[in-house]
Amino acid sequence: MSGATKYVHTFPLHSLLLLLLPLLLVLIGDLAGAIGDDEQTDFYIAFMQHDPLFTAPADQKNMNLDILSSVKGSLHDAQESMVYSYTKGFNAFAAKLSQDEAQKLLGMDRVVHVMPNRYHKLQTTKSWDFIGLPLTAKRNLKMERDIIVGLFDTGITPQSESFKDDGFGPPPAKWKGTCGHFANFSGCNKKLIGARYFKLDKVTDPNDIFSPVDVQGHGTHTSSTFAGNLVRNASLFGLAQGTARGAVPSARVAMYKVCWASFGCSDMDLLAAFEAAIHDGVDVISISIGGGYISYVVDSISIGAFHAMKKGILTVASAGNSGPSLGTVMNHAPWVLTVAASGIDREFRSNVRLGNGKTISGVGVSTFNPKQALYPLVSGEDVARNPSTKEDARFCLENSLDPAKVKGRLVYCKLGEWGIDSVVRQIGGVGTILTSDNFFFDSAPIFMAPGTIVNGTLGEIIDNYIHSTRSSSGVIDRTQEIKKLPAPFVATFSSRGPSSGSQRVLKPDIAAPGVNILAAYTPLKSLTGLKGDTQFSKFTLMSGTSMACPHVAGAAAYVKSFHPKWSPAAIKSAIITTANSMSRRVNKEGEFAYGAGQVNPTRAVNPGLIYDMGEMLYTQFLCHEGYNSSSLAVLVGSKSIDCSKFLPGIGYDDLNYPTMHLSLKSKQQITTAVFQRTVTNVGAARSVYNATIRAPRGVEITVKPRSLYFTRVNQKLSYRVVVRAKAMASTQMVSGSLVWKSSRNIVRSPIVIYSPENGNMKTGNKERGGI
Ligand SMILES: *[C@@H]1O[C@H](CO)[C@@H](O)[C@H](O)[C@H]1NC(C)=O
Ligand SMILES: *[C@@H]1O[C@H](CO)[C@@H](O)[C@H](O)[C@H]1NC(C)=O
Ligand SMILES: *[C@@H]1O[C@H](CO)[C@@H](O)[C@H](O)[C@H]1NC(C)=O
Ligand SMILES: *[C@@H]1O[C@H](CO)[C@@H](O)[C@H](O)[C@H]1NC(C)=O
Ligand SMILES: *[C@@H]1O[C@H](CO)[C@@H](O)[C@H](O)[C@H]1NC(C)=O
Repeated sequence: MSGATKYVHTFPLHSLLLLLLPLLLVLIGDLAGAIGDDEQTDFYIAFMQHDPLFTAPADQKNMNLDILSSVKGSLHDAQESMVYSYTKGFNAFAAKLSQDEAQKLLGMDRVVHVMPNRYHKLQTTKSWDFIGLPLTAKRNLKMERDIIVGLFDTGITPQSESFKDDGFGPPPAKWKGTCGHFANFSGCNKKLIGARYFKLDKVTDPNDIFSPVDVQGHGTHTSSTFAGNLVRNASLFGLAQGTARGAVPSARVAMYKVCWASFGCSDMDLLAAFEAAIHDGVDVISISIGGGYISYVVDSISIGAFHAMKKGILTVASAGNSGPSLGTVMNHAPWVLTVAASGIDREFRSNVRLGNGKTISGVGVSTFNPKQALYPLVSGEDVARNPSTKEDARFCLENSLDPAKVKGRLVYCKLGEWGIDSVVRQIGGVGTILTSDNFFFDSAPIFMAPGTIVNGTLGEIIDNYIHSTRSSSGVIDRTQEIKKLPAPFVATFSSRGPSSGSQRVLKPDIAAPGVNILAAYTPLKSLTGLKGDTQFSKFTLMSGTSMACPHVAGAAAYVKSFHPKWSPAAIKSAIITTANSMSRRVNKEGEFAYGAGQVNPTRAVNPGLIYDMGEMLYTQFLCHEGYNSSSLAVLVGSKSIDCSKFLPGIGYDDLNYPTMHLSLKSKQQITTAVFQRTVTNVGAARSVYNATIRAPRGVEITVKPRSLYFTRVNQKLSYRVVVRAKAMASTQMVSGSLVWKSSRNIVRSPIVIYSPENGNMKTGNKERGGI
């Protein structure tokens, strides 16, 4: 465990999270909670009551300035302190305030909520074939060309082949967004139709540029997975070779840069991006950013996504990279589609051949061909600079090794922090063999010099060999792509349910490929960003729920190209009920790891039935969850929602969600819950659906009626599911399912029964994390 501790103390937190988070989450899982607290800035976001009398943006802004003036003492001070006025999607403003002023503001009549601005962290395309969206998939090109996908990320690389506009017509008429020429940014085209940046605090980032350009590579990667053009023969120096493409290659891309290299992504910038995207006319929003707040009304992604939902736009977000602990899932609002990361059927391995003839298989991407058959091999702890650095030398930390004893040699090190390959290289080492018991071996880190990582057992073999001879030697071979058993598994780093937002909603919703994904990259950063790295590539491999998210956002855009009028909930339902089920034998956390299963875009186009819902039902759900009218005002724009007016008793969760999640009361012997659902027929007019129930042991599940007879398209029919479950051990989870089957369609809903710890939910991470 000393590795973990070292990692925490020495890691330059802000600048490197983006790329490195997916690689070593087990070590930094605890970190996410520790930072945030001292990050509070003096920027606040104030949400105002929606006033039907003042709907013009200028009126709203003036009114907000009036209110701010009364707190600040003068109009001049109010103008100075207000950095942004949100008037297009919702009524709010961002301003620099003292804590006292924020408190005063909160007490004012028209103000519904004031929250501090915080920073969020960011947490090939073979993957499309793997989930069944081949190059030859049926497309509705006429509509797909009018689809606009929006991403909130680190910016984009306009010159990338993935965003060239050959063959594209002018932007769709509905597009109202903007793009301009900025520093280091060549501008938009007919494929990349929008690019803006938001940095409302105007603080210069020494590692970034006030421009939509992507200096980190993350946003370029996610955008090309979402909607990038077909690019043939894409690879990372020959690895993962194939045709790179997005889900909807004919769609248009709009980038809203909100994440900054040194700072992360702030609430006020995220909300400004939501407002812009809603106004600009995007169809689906993809957010590969962590969000760990429990409450739906203090989380900017949850708030923004609610407003987007009201305007018919689905928000898809990553579940976070804090797995495999339970209760870590982020972005868990029921109006958000929450995505876990699964692995595909390949891995990247490089062999370490030792001087004694033994070959050991390590993980990682090392694109270097060895120039010698063997190199001298030493262990870091044996080549310390002096006795006092011996402990650090086991981890090959900076300044701990003696350059004279490292030069020309391979070095064996325990993994304490990333970037050791660079440290060893700087002092003349040939390469690095890392060993760790904590690393999750399901994603491959990229090395800047010959390198690989092996587990503790294999590490011991190497260590024993080094100390068994006076002239130990070895070599690291160039990485090879290996076929892995196709059983879809959820990545260890992918955050798990249950949701800390509600005991009645299953999260994550769905899984999609997020391990070793090849997609476009920025020319502004080397592959690792480490000192001395000279590897640059137009495509690279990344892992994380960040990579899974645009796969599902892409599937949503694909569905929307066939059904442009469907609501966000309808599209979401289609994706969830048609997912390929995954196995609990492979993924022991079951639905808490993968939700409904692996996304299947082609099936999602014809779901047969959908579970639709809108603002009304979500509001009712929030009332049921105990939110009162003043906290709801942030979402609905008015304090006048009267929760007591909603009729109680429309089921356990008050939602029309495509999955069901029952949390048991610990002291109760038997818990009974009724789930009320309404399905809309979007398949053949005349269809009969019969129910099949699969109930886990100790649980009784019944459905009424058992058959649904539809006679027309868009007809709605309701049914009830009654779940009776015996008490279970704390934190135990069992699952079953309800499947509606017609002659053409299979509509599947997982049913999860969970026994919370001490009858209460685990609270999960309070702070932002993940990528
Ligand atoms: C941006 O452009 C300026 C001026 O051409 C250049 O000096 C700078 O290095 C560029 N920044 C990056 C990150 O490419
Ligand atoms: C494909 O890419 C590889 C690696 O970059 C290169 O060696 C090869 O020549 C390319 N093949 C074609 C047909 O362009
Ligand atoms: C290390 O990897 C080897 C080979 O893949 C495997 O047999 C062994 O069980 C692993 N050890 C641990 C502790 O995971
Ligand atoms: C509404 O809920 C919030 C947050 O739980 C609480 O602070 C506030 O006092 C409540 N207001 C009323 C009127 O109950
Ligand atoms: C549904 O059930 C009815 C009555 O049991 C049966 O006649 C019908 O064939 C079933 N349909 C399907 C598609 O299984």
